[in-house]
Amino acid sequence: MLQGVPFLGAGLGFRREIGKEILSASQQVNFLELIADQYIDRPGIREQEAADLATRFPVVLHGVDFSVGTDCPLDETYLRSFCRIADLTKAHWVSDHLCLTRIPGNSLGQLTPLSFTDETVRIAAKHISEIANAVGRPFLIENISYYFTMPAAVMTEAEFITAVVREANCWLLLDLANVMNNAANQGYDARLFLDQLPLDRVVQIHLAGSSYSGPLLIDSHSHPVPDQVFELLKYVAPRMPSLRGVLLERDQNFPPIEELVAELEVTRQILKTHWAPYYYAGAEFPPAPDKEFTPRAKNAAASDYV
Ligand SMILES: [Fe+2]
Repeated sequence: MLQGVPFLGAGLGFRREIGKEILSASQQVNFLELIADQYIDRPGIREQEAADLATRFPVVLHGVDFSVGTDCPLDETYLRSFCRIADLTKAHWVSDHLCLTRIPGNSLGQLTPLSFTDETVRIAAKHISEIANAVGRPFLIENISYYFTMPAAVMTEAEFITAVVREANCWLLLDLANVMNNAANQGYDARLFLDQLPLDRVVQIHLAGSSYSGPLLIDSHSHPVPDQVFELLKYVAPRMPSLRGVLLERDQNFPPIEELVAELEVTRQILKTHWAPYYYAGAEFPPAPDKEFTPRAKNAAASDYV
């Protein structure tokens, strides 16, 4: 259920390398996404940092190591720690990736694609339901970038993502940079792919800039968001009634904070123009041109306007 979950606006992934700059731009950064793994099992200063950030910004929590596609029980210790950080930060929602990061006894050290099979749908959906029940918050599953396909597929990637979301009754974190990367690397049309997804289940969007490694477009979070990704945001924005936030991911090659703030402003302008709750909400939205944009994070749910 998303009832009571507010629209958070345009936010940034918190990275310690630019932590001070992010704090200095708090008026322009509507919310933060924290990487749960950076705080798990690091009590003390790290947990205090997470708690402090949550007093300054609305927070959502992003995990990287549930490995929902692995056919073995969830790591209970990791799950408990994740839930503790979610409680500590009062996270509005939580997320992880639709992938493998572990096989029994070993860490793979990367987001590894799954086989698009009925059995994998069942395994991932079961784990997602278990996480959502334990954390007591909306759980979003994110589409990944992948650079090879696993064998034995009986469905397309879009069918696979849709089947997992439906079976787990969860929400979708739609990474548009990953869609752009996969479209380029796997040779499909990004818009046709997006048309096949359950866009009504998208709660959060990720935006990022990629880079080439040889012939492959890599999910490096190292460059400005390209026009191509902003165009994809315009394309899907009218069809996402459950959207609660759009997040900019930047992990390296950090620019001055003003450049990231400018990308957030571009994002807000796209939402004002193309996102249905703004477009259709009548007098209040979009706000009058002479009024500063105020995200409804603190006072209203997006669903109140659709
Ligand atoms: Fe992402």
